[in-house]
Amino acid sequence: MAKTSFVCQSCGAVHSKWSGKCDACGGWNTISEEAAPAPLGSNALKRQKGRVFALEDLKTEDKEPARRITGIHEFDRVCGGGLVPGCALLVGGDPGVGKSTIILQALASFARAGGSAIYISGEESMAQVRSRASRMGLSDSPVALGSATCVEDILATLEKAKSPSVIAIDSIQTLWTGALEAAPGTVAQVRTSSFDLVRFAKSSGSSLILVGHVTKDGQIAGPKAVEHLVDAVLYFEGERGHQFRILRAVKNRFGPTDEIGVFEMTGKGLAEVANPSALFLGDRNSASPGTAVFAGIEGTRPLLVEVQALVAQPGYGTPRRAVVGWDTGRLAMILAVLDSRGGVGVSAQDVYLNIAGGLKVGEPAADLASAAALISSFAGIALPKDTVFFGEISLTGDIRPAPQPELRLKEAVKLGFTTAVVPKDTKTEVAGMTLKPVKDVGDLIAFCGAGER
Ligand code: TYD
Ligand code: MG
Repeated sequence: MAKTSFVCQSCGAVHSKWSGKCDACGGWNTISEEAAPAPLGSNALKRQKGRVFALEDLKTEDKEPARRITGIHEFDRVCGGGLVPGCALLVGGDPGVGKSTIILQALASFARAGGSAIYISGEESMAQVRSRASRMGLSDSPVALGSATCVEDILATLEKAKSPSVIAIDSIQTLWTGALEAAPGTVAQVRTSSFDLVRFAKSSGSSLILVGHVTKDGQIAGPKAVEHLVDAVLYFEGERGHQFRILRAVKNRFGPTDEIGVFEMTGKGLAEVANPSALFLGDRNSASPGTAVFAGIEGTRPLLVEVQALVAQPGYGTPRRAVVGWDTGRLAMILAVLDSRGGVGVSAQDVYLNIAGGLKVGEPAADLASAAALISSFAGIALPKDTVFFGEISLTGDIRPAPQPELRLKEAVKLGFTTAVVPKDTKTEVAGMTLKPVKDVGDLIAFCGAGER
Protein backbone atom coordinates (compact mmCIF):
# COMPACT_ATOMS: atom_id res chain seq x y z
CA MET A 1 0.00 0.00 0.00
CA ALA A 2 1.32 3.43 -0.90
CA LYS A 3 2.20 5.49 2.12
CA THR A 4 0.15 8.62 2.50
CA SER A 5 0.26 11.60 4.80
CA PHE A 6 -2.15 14.39 5.66
CA VAL A 7 -0.89 17.79 4.60
CA CYS A 8 -2.40 21.20 5.32
CA GLN A 9 -2.83 22.92 1.94
CA SER A 10 -2.49 26.32 3.53
CA CYS A 11 0.70 26.06 5.59
CA GLY A 12 2.16 22.71 4.52
CA ALA A 13 2.18 21.14 8.01
CA VAL A 14 2.15 17.34 7.93
CA HIS A 15 -0.23 15.48 10.25
CA SER A 16 -0.47 11.80 11.01
CA LYS A 17 -4.25 11.75 10.62
CA TRP A 18 -7.00 13.85 9.12
CA SER A 19 -8.69 16.50 11.21
CA GLY A 20 -11.01 19.39 10.50
CA LYS A 21 -8.63 22.02 11.80
CA CYS A 22 -4.90 22.39 11.20
CA ASP A 23 -3.15 22.77 14.56
CA ALA A 24 -0.21 24.55 12.95
CA CYS A 25 -1.98 27.43 11.20
CA GLY A 26 -5.51 27.23 12.59
CA GLY A 27 -7.07 26.83 9.12
CA TRP A 28 -10.33 24.90 8.86
CA ASN A 29 -10.87 22.15 6.33
CA THR A 30 -7.44 22.66 4.80
CA ILE A 31 -6.01 19.18 5.39
CA SER A 32 -6.01 16.67 2.58
CA GLU A 33 -4.45 13.31 1.96
CA GLU A 34 -1.34 13.16 -0.22
CA ALA A 35 1.12 10.49 -1.25
CA ALA A 36 4.10 10.81 1.07
CA PRO A 37 7.24 12.05 -0.68
CA ALA A 38 10.11 9.57 -0.93
CA PRO A 39 12.26 9.91 2.17
CA LEU A 40 15.76 11.27 1.76
CA GLY A 41 17.91 8.14 1.84
CA SER A 42 21.06 8.05 3.91
CA ASN A 43 22.87 8.17 0.56
CA ALA A 44 21.75 11.71 0.03
CA LEU A 45 23.37 12.71 3.29
CA LYS A 46 26.60 10.85 2.70
CA ARG A 47 27.09 12.47 -0.69
CA GLN A 48 27.41 15.99 0.69
CA LYS A 49 30.96 17.21 0.65
CA GLY A 50 31.64 19.27 3.72
CA ARG A 51 33.73 22.01 2.16
CA VAL A 52 33.86 25.23 4.15
CA PHE A 53 35.02 28.71 3.28
CA ALA A 54 36.22 31.58 5.40
CA LEU A 55 33.92 34.57 5.20
CA GLU A 56 36.79 36.99 4.61
CA ASP A 57 38.12 34.98 1.66
CA LEU A 58 34.88 35.53 -0.24
CA LYS A 59 35.20 39.26 0.01
CA THR A 60 36.92 39.99 -3.29
CA GLU A 61 34.96 37.81 -5.67
CA ASP A 62 31.56 38.30 -4.05
CA LYS A 63 30.82 41.93 -4.68
CA GLU A 64 27.20 43.08 -4.55
CA PRO A 65 25.86 41.89 -7.93
CA ALA A 66 24.39 44.44 -10.31
CA ARG A 67 20.62 44.67 -9.96
CA ARG A 68 18.27 44.17 -12.85
CA ILE A 69 16.12 47.27 -13.02
CA THR A 70 12.70 46.70 -14.56
CA GLY A 71 11.92 50.39 -14.95
CA ILE A 72 8.66 50.15 -12.96
CA HIS A 73 10.05 52.24 -10.11
CA GLU A 74 7.53 51.26 -7.44
CA PHE A 75 8.22 47.59 -8.16
CA ASP A 76 12.00 48.03 -8.20
CA ARG A 77 11.96 49.92 -4.91
CA VAL A 78 9.91 47.25 -3.13
CA CYS A 79 12.40 44.63 -4.37
CA GLY A 80 15.16 46.65 -2.69
CA GLY A 81 16.41 48.39 -5.85
CA GLY A 82 15.79 45.91 -8.66
CA LEU A 83 16.00 42.15 -9.08
CA VAL A 84 19.11 40.33 -7.92
CA PRO A 85 20.65 37.78 -10.33
CA GLY A 86 20.00 34.24 -9.14
CA CYS A 87 17.27 35.33 -6.74
CA ALA A 88 13.76 33.98 -6.44
CA LEU A 89 10.89 36.30 -5.71
CA LEU A 90 7.35 35.31 -4.79
CA VAL A 91 4.45 37.64 -5.55
CA GLY A 92 1.33 36.60 -3.67
CA GLY A 93 -2.16 38.05 -3.60
CA ASP A 94 -5.87 37.42 -3.95
CA PRO A 95 -7.11 36.26 -7.34
CA GLY A 96 -7.92 39.24 -9.55
CA VAL A 97 -5.89 41.77 -7.58
CA GLY A 98 -3.56 42.36 -10.55
CA LYS A 99 -0.55 40.07 -10.09
CA SER A 100 -0.39 38.95 -13.72
CA THR A 101 -0.82 42.55 -14.84
CA ILE A 102 2.05 43.96 -12.77
CA ILE A 103 4.42 41.13 -13.66
CA LEU A 104 3.68 41.44 -17.38
CA GLN A 105 4.24 45.19 -17.17
CA ALA A 106 7.53 44.75 -15.31
CA LEU A 107 8.77 42.19 -17.83
CA ALA A 108 7.70 44.27 -20.80
CA SER A 109 9.48 47.31 -19.42
CA PHE A 110 12.62 45.26 -18.70
CA ALA A 111 12.60 43.74 -22.20
CA ARG A 112 12.09 47.13 -23.83
CA ALA A 113 15.26 48.35 -22.15
CA GLY A 114 17.17 45.53 -23.79
CA GLY A 115 16.93 42.75 -21.21
CA SER A 116 15.82 39.21 -21.96
CA ALA A 117 12.61 38.16 -20.27
CA ILE A 118 10.23 35.24 -20.49
CA TYR A 119 6.69 35.02 -19.15
CA ILE A 120 5.32 31.52 -18.71
CA SER A 121 1.62 31.29 -18.03
CA GLY A 122 -0.10 28.16 -16.83
CA GLU A 123 -3.44 29.88 -16.48
CA GLU A 124 -3.97 31.77 -19.68
CA SER A 125 -3.42 30.79 -23.29
CA MET A 126 -0.88 32.68 -25.39
CA ALA A 127 -3.73 34.44 -27.18
CA GLN A 128 -5.16 35.66 -23.87
CA VAL A 129 -1.78 36.93 -22.68
CA ARG A 130 -1.25 38.67 -26.00
CA SER A 131 -4.64 40.34 -25.97
CA ARG A 132 -4.05 41.56 -22.44
CA ALA A 133 -0.65 42.91 -23.47
CA SER A 134 -2.09 44.73 -26.45
CA ARG A 135 -4.81 46.29 -24.27
CA MET A 136 -2.06 47.61 -22.01
CA GLY A 137 -0.08 48.92 -24.99
CA LEU A 138 2.75 46.45 -24.48
CA SER A 139 2.40 44.25 -27.55
CA ASP A 140 5.54 45.69 -29.18
CA SER A 141 7.86 44.72 -26.35
CA PRO A 142 10.14 41.73 -26.94
CA VAL A 143 9.01 39.48 -24.07
CA ALA A 144 9.12 35.76 -24.83
CA LEU A 145 5.83 34.04 -23.96
CA GLY A 146 5.27 30.45 -23.00
CA SER A 147 2.28 28.44 -21.94
CA ALA A 148 3.25 25.39 -19.87
CA THR A 149 2.55 23.81 -16.52
CA CYS A 150 4.92 20.84 -16.40
CA VAL A 151 8.18 21.80 -14.70
CA GLU A 152 10.29 19.48 -16.85
CA ASP A 153 8.89 21.21 -19.98
CA ILE A 154 9.46 24.63 -18.46
CA LEU A 155 13.08 23.83 -17.56
CA ALA A 156 13.72 22.54 -21.08
CA THR A 157 12.19 25.72 -22.54
CA LEU A 158 14.32 27.90 -20.29
CA GLU A 159 17.49 26.07 -21.24
CA LYS A 160 16.62 26.37 -24.92
CA ALA A 161 16.01 30.10 -24.42
CA LYS A 162 19.55 30.33 -22.94
CA SER A 163 18.40 31.20 -19.41
CA PRO A 164 16.72 34.59 -19.86
CA SER A 165 17.65 37.26 -17.30
CA VAL A 166 14.14 37.46 -15.85
CA ILE A 167 11.74 34.54 -15.71
CA ALA A 168 8.14 34.83 -14.52
CA ILE A 169 5.97 31.83 -13.74
CA ASP A 170 2.23 32.48 -13.42
CA SER A 171 1.22 30.73 -11.21
CA ILE A 172 2.83 28.21 -8.86
CA GLN A 173 -0.55 26.57 -8.29
CA THR A 174 -0.67 25.31 -11.88
CA LEU A 175 2.79 23.69 -11.71
CA TRP A 176 3.33 19.95 -11.56
CA THR A 177 6.24 17.60 -11.96
CA GLY A 178 6.12 14.07 -13.33
CA ALA A 179 8.29 12.97 -10.40
CA LEU A 180 5.29 13.08 -8.05
CA GLU A 181 1.91 11.41 -8.22
CA ALA A 182 0.07 14.17 -6.35
CA ALA A 183 -2.34 16.46 -8.23
CA PRO A 184 -1.29 19.98 -9.30
CA GLY A 185 -2.07 22.52 -6.62
CA THR A 186 -1.20 20.24 -3.71
CA VAL A 187 1.53 21.31 -1.31
CA ALA A 188 3.84 18.53 -2.49
CA GLN A 189 3.56 19.55 -6.17
CA VAL A 190 3.78 23.28 -5.54
CA ARG A 191 6.83 22.90 -3.31
CA THR A 192 8.74 20.42 -5.43
CA SER A 193 8.08 22.30 -8.67
CA SER A 194 8.97 25.66 -7.17
CA PHE A 195 12.10 24.19 -5.63
CA ASP A 196 13.27 22.89 -9.04
CA LEU A 197 12.73 26.31 -10.59
CA VAL A 198 14.49 28.11 -7.73
CA ARG A 199 17.44 25.75 -8.11
CA PHE A 200 17.55 26.49 -11.83
CA ALA A 201 17.56 30.24 -11.14
CA LYS A 202 20.36 29.94 -8.58
CA SER A 203 22.57 27.94 -10.92
CA SER A 204 21.86 29.95 -14.08
CA GLY A 205 21.84 33.41 -12.52
CA SER A 206 18.35 34.21 -13.82
CA SER A 207 16.01 36.23 -11.64
CA LEU A 208 12.89 34.17 -11.00
CA ILE A 209 9.48 35.64 -10.24
CA LEU A 210 6.87 33.19 -8.97
CA VAL A 211 3.24 34.24 -8.80
CA GLY A 212 1.01 32.62 -6.16
CA HIS A 213 -2.68 32.99 -5.36
CA VAL A 214 -3.67 33.44 -1.77
CA THR A 215 -6.36 30.91 -0.98
CA LYS A 216 -8.96 31.21 1.73
CA ASP A 217 -10.56 27.78 1.54
CA GLY A 218 -7.36 25.73 1.32
CA GLN A 219 -8.45 23.79 -1.78
CA ILE A 220 -5.09 24.55 -3.38
CA ALA A 221 -1.76 25.24 -1.69
CA GLY A 222 -1.14 28.90 -0.91
CA PRO A 223 2.05 30.96 -1.24
CA LYS A 224 2.90 30.17 2.41
CA ALA A 225 3.98 26.72 1.23
CA VAL A 226 6.93 28.18 -0.71
CA GLU A 227 7.76 31.33 1.26
CA HIS A 228 10.78 29.69 2.85
CA LEU A 229 12.18 28.61 -0.54
CA VAL A 230 12.47 32.08 -1.98
CA ASP A 231 14.65 35.11 -1.22
CA ALA A 232 11.90 37.68 -1.19
CA VAL A 233 8.15 37.63 -0.69
CA LEU A 234 5.94 40.45 -1.92
CA TYR A 235 2.21 40.64 -1.34
CA PHE A 236 -0.08 42.53 -3.65
CA GLU A 237 -3.03 43.90 -1.75
CA GLY A 238 -6.06 45.96 -2.56
CA GLU A 239 -9.47 46.50 -1.09
CA ARG A 240 -12.34 45.58 -3.35
CA GLY A 241 -13.99 48.75 -4.55
CA HIS A 242 -10.78 50.77 -4.32
CA GLN A 243 -8.65 51.22 -7.39
CA PHE A 244 -5.45 51.44 -5.32
CA ARG A 245 -3.15 48.44 -5.15
CA ILE A 246 -0.30 48.10 -2.69
CA LEU A 247 2.73 45.92 -3.24
CA ARG A 248 4.31 45.14 0.12
CA ALA A 249 7.59 43.37 0.89
CA VAL A 250 7.13 40.97 3.81
CA LYS A 251 10.44 39.15 3.45
CA ASN A 252 13.47 40.37 1.56
CA ARG A 253 17.02 39.08 1.73
CA PHE A 254 18.18 41.94 -0.46
CA GLY A 255 16.35 44.96 0.85
CA PRO A 256 14.15 46.43 3.55
CA THR A 257 10.86 44.81 4.48
CA ASP A 258 7.68 46.81 5.02
CA GLU A 259 8.52 48.77 1.90
CA ILE A 260 5.42 49.50 -0.14
CA GLY A 261 4.76 50.40 -3.74
CA VAL A 262 1.48 52.07 -4.64
CA PHE A 263 -0.35 51.53 -7.92
CA GLU A 264 -3.66 52.52 -9.37
CA MET A 265 -5.64 50.10 -11.55
CA THR A 266 -6.64 51.84 -14.77
CA GLY A 267 -8.15 50.68 -18.03
CA LYS A 268 -4.61 50.28 -19.40
CA GLY A 269 -3.03 48.29 -16.59
CA LEU A 270 -1.46 49.48 -13.38
CA ALA A 271 -0.19 53.04 -13.13
CA GLU A 272 2.48 53.98 -10.60
CA VAL A 273 1.45 56.47 -7.95
CA ALA A 274 4.40 58.73 -7.30
CA ASN A 275 2.82 60.75 -4.52
CA PRO A 276 0.68 58.35 -2.47
CA SER A 277 0.08 60.80 0.39
CA ALA A 278 -1.96 63.04 -1.88
CA LEU A 279 -3.93 59.99 -3.01
CA PHE A 280 -4.69 58.64 0.46
CA LEU A 281 -5.64 62.03 1.84
CA GLY A 282 -8.04 62.61 -1.03
CA ASP A 283 -10.32 65.60 -0.80
CA ARG A 284 -10.13 66.99 2.70
CA ASN A 285 -11.95 70.25 2.24
CA SER A 286 -14.86 69.52 4.52
CA ALA A 287 -13.55 69.45 8.07
CA SER A 288 -15.96 67.28 9.99
CA PRO A 289 -15.53 65.74 13.46
CA GLY A 290 -13.87 62.33 13.63
CA THR A 291 -10.99 62.63 11.19
CA ALA A 292 -7.29 63.09 11.90
CA VAL A 293 -4.25 62.87 9.65
CA PHE A 294 -1.49 60.46 10.63
CA ALA A 295 2.05 61.25 9.48
CA GLY A 296 3.28 57.71 9.01
CA ILE A 297 6.21 55.85 7.51
CA GLU A 298 5.87 52.79 5.29
CA GLY A 299 9.23 51.16 4.72
CA THR A 300 11.58 53.98 3.78
CA ARG A 301 8.93 56.41 2.65
CA PRO A 302 6.74 58.84 4.59
CA LEU A 303 3.02 58.48 3.97
CA LEU A 304 0.16 60.62 5.22
CA VAL A 305 -3.16 58.91 5.77
CA GLU A 306 -6.49 59.95 7.15
CA VAL A 307 -7.87 58.11 10.18
CA GLN A 308 -11.65 58.25 10.44
CA ALA A 309 -13.53 57.43 13.63
CA LEU A 310 -17.17 57.29 14.54
CA VAL A 311 -18.27 57.06 18.14
CA ALA A 312 -22.01 56.44 18.50
CA GLN A 313 -24.54 55.64 21.20
CA PRO A 314 -24.69 51.87 21.56
CA GLY A 315 -27.76 49.85 20.76
CA TYR A 316 -28.47 46.91 23.03
CA GLY A 317 -25.90 44.65 24.63
CA THR A 318 -22.17 44.75 24.03
CA PRO A 319 -20.93 47.87 22.24
CA ARG A 320 -19.95 47.26 18.62
CA ARG A 321 -16.38 47.62 17.40
CA ALA A 322 -15.42 47.61 13.74
CA VAL A 323 -11.95 48.40 12.41
CA VAL A 324 -10.77 48.58 8.82
CA GLY A 325 -7.04 48.95 8.15
CA TRP A 326 -5.88 48.93 11.76
CA ASP A 327 -5.37 46.46 14.59
CA THR A 328 -8.44 45.63 16.70
CA GLY A 329 -6.36 44.94 19.81
CA ARG A 330 -4.66 48.32 19.48
CA LEU A 331 -8.03 50.07 19.23
CA ALA A 332 -9.28 48.34 22.39
CA MET A 333 -6.14 49.50 24.18
CA ILE A 334 -6.52 53.13 23.08
CA LEU A 335 -10.18 53.14 24.13
CA ALA A 336 -9.25 51.79 27.57
CA VAL A 337 -6.47 54.37 27.99
CA LEU A 338 -8.74 57.26 26.91
CA ASP A 339 -11.36 56.04 29.35
CA SER A 340 -9.25 55.43 32.42
CA ARG A 341 -6.42 57.98 32.00
CA GLY A 342 -8.24 60.72 30.13
CA GLY A 343 -11.78 60.41 31.44
CA VAL A 344 -13.25 60.22 27.93
CA GLY A 345 -16.09 57.70 28.24
CA VAL A 346 -15.70 56.02 24.86
CA SER A 347 -15.44 52.45 26.14
CA ALA A 348 -19.17 51.98 26.48
CA GLN A 349 -19.93 53.41 23.03
CA ASP A 350 -20.13 51.82 19.59
CA VAL A 351 -16.81 52.57 17.89
CA TYR A 352 -15.92 52.41 14.19
CA LEU A 353 -12.44 53.16 12.90
CA ASN A 354 -11.33 53.29 9.29
CA ILE A 355 -8.07 54.09 7.51
CA ALA A 356 -9.03 55.95 4.35
CA GLY A 357 -8.02 54.65 0.93
CA GLY A 358 -7.83 50.96 1.83
CA LEU A 359 -4.38 51.12 3.41
CA LYS A 360 -3.39 48.86 6.31
CA VAL A 361 -1.42 50.68 8.99
CA GLY A 362 0.77 48.66 11.36
CA GLU A 363 2.84 51.36 13.04
CA PRO A 364 2.28 52.02 16.77
CA ALA A 365 2.90 55.70 15.99
CA ALA A 366 -0.63 55.80 14.56
CA ASP A 367 -2.02 55.71 18.13
CA LEU A 368 -2.05 59.48 18.53
CA ALA A 369 -3.96 60.12 15.29
CA SER A 370 -6.47 57.38 16.10
CA ALA A 371 -7.00 58.74 19.60
CA ALA A 372 -7.43 62.25 18.20
CA ALA A 373 -10.03 61.04 15.68
CA LEU A 374 -11.90 59.18 18.45
CA ILE A 375 -11.89 62.18 20.79
CA SER A 376 -12.97 64.46 17.97
CA SER A 377 -15.92 62.23 17.05
CA PHE A 378 -16.90 61.73 20.71
CA ALA A 379 -16.84 65.46 21.43
CA GLY A 380 -18.32 66.45 18.07
CA ILE A 381 -15.52 68.96 17.53
CA ALA A 382 -13.63 68.97 14.21
CA LEU A 383 -9.85 69.02 14.47
CA PRO A 384 -7.89 71.81 12.77
CA LYS A 385 -7.58 70.92 9.07
CA ASP A 386 -3.89 71.76 8.79
CA THR A 387 -2.71 69.41 11.58
CA VAL A 388 -0.97 66.03 11.50
CA PHE A 389 -0.41 63.60 14.38
CA PHE A 390 2.14 60.94 15.25
CA GLY A 391 3.20 59.23 18.48
CA GLU A 392 2.68 56.02 20.38
CA ILE A 393 0.39 55.89 23.41
CA SER A 394 1.51 53.73 26.32
CA LEU A 395 -0.82 52.04 28.81
CA THR A 396 0.02 54.71 31.36
CA GLY A 397 -1.39 57.32 29.01
CA ASP A 398 2.03 58.82 28.22
CA ILE A 399 2.95 59.65 24.64
CA ARG A 400 6.10 57.90 23.50
CA PRO A 401 8.44 59.05 20.75
CA ALA A 402 8.19 57.72 17.20
CA PRO A 403 11.14 57.07 14.87
CA GLN A 404 12.17 59.41 12.04
CA PRO A 405 10.18 62.52 13.01
CA GLU A 406 11.99 64.67 10.44
CA LEU A 407 10.88 62.56 7.48
CA ARG A 408 7.27 62.68 8.67
CA LEU A 409 7.28 66.43 9.26
CA LYS A 410 8.88 67.23 5.89
CA GLU A 411 6.26 65.20 4.05
CA ALA A 412 3.52 67.00 5.98
CA VAL A 413 4.95 70.42 5.07
CA LYS A 414 5.12 69.35 1.43
CA LEU A 415 1.40 68.62 1.48
CA GLY A 416 0.50 71.94 3.05
CA PHE A 417 0.18 71.05 6.74
CA THR A 418 1.42 73.63 9.21
CA THR A 419 0.93 72.06 12.66
CA ALA A 420 2.03 68.73 14.08
CA VAL A 421 0.95 67.18 17.36
CA VAL A 422 4.00 65.20 18.43
CA PRO A 423 5.46 63.38 21.46
CA LYS A 424 6.87 65.70 24.13
CA ASP A 425 10.58 65.28 23.44
CA THR A 426 10.46 65.82 19.69
CA LYS A 427 13.00 68.55 18.97
CA THR A 428 13.11 68.35 15.18
CA GLU A 429 12.84 71.75 13.54
CA VAL A 430 11.28 71.84 10.08
CA ALA A 431 10.67 75.16 8.34
CA GLY A 432 6.98 75.98 8.05
CA MET A 433 5.87 73.50 10.72
CA THR A 434 4.74 74.41 14.25
CA LEU A 435 5.12 71.62 16.77
CA LYS A 436 2.57 71.02 19.53
CA PRO A 437 4.30 68.61 21.91
CA VAL A 438 1.98 66.50 24.09
CA LYS A 439 3.16 64.56 27.13
CA ASP A 440 0.09 62.43 27.81
CA VAL A 441 -3.49 61.83 26.69
CA GLY A 442 -4.63 64.71 28.92
CA ASP A 443 -2.61 67.11 26.73
CA LEU A 444 -4.09 65.54 23.61
CA ILE A 445 -7.64 65.94 24.90
CA ALA A 446 -6.88 69.57 25.71
CA PHE A 447 -5.54 70.09 22.17
CA CYS A 448 -8.68 68.56 20.69
CA GLY A 449 -10.71 71.07 22.69
CA ALA A 450 -12.71 68.34 24.40
CA GLY A 451 -11.48 68.85 27.94
CA GLU A 452 -14.65 70.34 29.41
CA ARG A 453 -17.03 67.42 28.87
P1 TYD B 1 -4.97 40.10 -13.05
O1 TYD B 1 -3.63 40.69 -13.25
O2 TYD B 1 -5.43 39.09 -14.04
O3 TYD B 1 -5.11 39.48 -11.59
P2 TYD B 1 -4.40 38.20 -10.94
O4 TYD B 1 -3.33 37.75 -11.85
O5 TYD B 1 -3.90 38.73 -9.63
O6 TYD B 1 -5.46 37.19 -10.74
O7 TYD B 1 -5.98 41.31 -12.95
C1 TYD B 1 -7.29 41.11 -13.18
C2 TYD B 1 -8.13 42.32 -12.79
O8 TYD B 1 -7.56 43.54 -13.17
C3 TYD B 1 -9.42 42.19 -13.47
O9 TYD B 1 -10.44 42.27 -12.50
C4 TYD B 1 -9.49 43.31 -14.41
C5 TYD B 1 -8.49 44.29 -13.92
N1 TYD B 1 -7.77 44.99 -15.01
C6 TYD B 1 -8.03 46.32 -15.24
O10 TYD B 1 -8.88 46.94 -14.61
N2 TYD B 1 -7.32 46.96 -16.24
C7 TYD B 1 -6.39 46.33 -16.98
O11 TYD B 1 -5.77 46.94 -17.87
C8 TYD B 1 -6.13 44.95 -16.71
C9 TYD B 1 -5.11 44.20 -17.50
C10 TYD B 1 -6.83 44.33 -15.70
MG1 MG C 1 -3.29 35.99 -12.98
